[in-house]
Amino acid sequence: MAIWLAATRLCARSTPKKPAGLGRHILPRCYSTRPHETINVQGASFVRDSKTNVPASIISKLPQRLYMKPEHPLGILRTLIEGHFPNFTTANSLSPIVSVFKNFDELGFPHDHPGRNITDSYYINSTTMLRTHTSAHEIEVFRQGADKWLLTADVYRRDEIDASHYPVFHQVEGARTFDVSEDMDALAEENARLAEKLASANIIIEDDTQVTPQNPYQNVHDPAHAALVTENLKSSLNSLILSIFGARANATKEEPLRVRWIEAYFPFTSPSYEVEVFFQGKWLEILGCGVVKQATLDQSGIENRIGWAFGLGLERIAMVLFSIPDIRLFWSEDPRFLEQFTPGKITAFRSYSRFPPCYKDVSFWTSDQVKFHENDLCDVVRDTAGDLVEDVKLIDEFVNPKTQRKSLCYRINYRSMDRCAQQRPSSYPYRGPPEPDLLLYSYRSLSNEEVNEIQSRVVAKLVEKFAIEPR
Ligand code: PHE
Repeated sequence: MAIWLAATRLCARSTPKKPAGLGRHILPRCYSTRPHETINVQGASFVRDSKTNVPASIISKLPQRLYMKPEHPLGILRTLIEGHFPNFTTANSLSPIVSVFKNFDELGFPHDHPGRNITDSYYINSTTMLRTHTSAHEIEVFRQGADKWLLTADVYRRDEIDASHYPVFHQVEGARTFDVSEDMDALAEENARLAEKLASANIIIEDDTQVTPQNPYQNVHDPAHAALVTENLKSSLNSLILSIFGARANATKEEPLRVRWIEAYFPFTSPSYEVEVFFQGKWLEILGCGVVKQATLDQSGIENRIGWAFGLGLERIAMVLFSIPDIRLFWSEDPRFLEQFTPGKITAFRSYSRFPPCYKDVSFWTSDQVKFHENDLCDVVRDTAGDLVEDVKLIDEFVNPKTQRKSLCYRINYRSMDRCAQQRPSSYPYRGPPEPDLLLYSYRSLSNEEVNEIQSRVVAKLVEKFAIEPR
């Protein structure tokens, strides 16, 4: 457990690829410091410093707001969730640029939390970053006074490259608070109603969770109130899951929808839970949640209230509901992708012909002077080749016993998803040779020369940034 906020990034990882807390978080990373330069992000200028690590390919994603497009699977799913909570206020336009304080400190993240590492998060500079989760906005939204709200947004985390990992993904955060002196009787009645409804639905809820000293009710709460809020959190989310998956998963009496609750840890909730859904033969982790730490509500100016919050990853659910096999497809501008979907409808994605993969290996000696992290390579690759890269895998690693130098070999899989180069959006990082007009509306594979050219630029950038020595 405990790789990031808890066991998951709520995106599309079913089993963590790398064991918790190992290797990937420990190497410091080295970007050259250019103290007098500034970085422009969405029209604002920020002073760069030693923490600046947001590449242009990531900055180009900020204006896209896929979750607001009514005909996009992420937009369709957001609308479905908002429809399930009709009385909730929505906030869908919060800027992804937040202070480090807001993203981490204000929510009680310890100073040594792995999520803070520059290998894991995108920093504009030491004080400003791209939000890593929608919880970063909890306090400001609570402060605005709504007692039930949903907020959907793009979130950013540095990651490896493969079919289910992308450094930008989307979350829906939801919360509800209750007045401790007024709402508790009504809450008990509502809980009973929700429980009755769920009992008659085709859903099996596996919940062995216990309130323990490791995952306690908060001292400041009356345990009876905390129990009511926890129960309301659980039945509200079970009902949401039933309405998202129930019909689509063909839940029947014989094969009901299965949901399981697992104890978890988040710095800003207690007790905390994660929820998994059994879908197409696998347990799929879809959300994190808990009773909001009272300190958060106090800071939001609502000391007399108690409440719950959840954060759910949209991509992971959308990949299952719409049968979307590769997370890069959400970013596709290809009409063969976009034209398949209709606002308000869940339909299975029909795959169109995929171009053949083109594998290129890069082997190099790392340098003692400059630390190198796999996410550094992934960012260089994305910045150079954009979404032409399907995945990056470490295929060989050894230390020369004589010199103690370390050699790494990565295999980069280049595969084009979209139509021909002429149709690339202007923000696309790779600008190759111009295409003949003839090809304007054709779809085409990547040529070997083109890939070689990109690959040599990737290698050149690695040499420049990380002083690696190609082998
Ligand atoms: N922000 C958490 C995450 O991204 C999810 C979460 C939201 C957990 C709200 C508890 C309450 O993993």
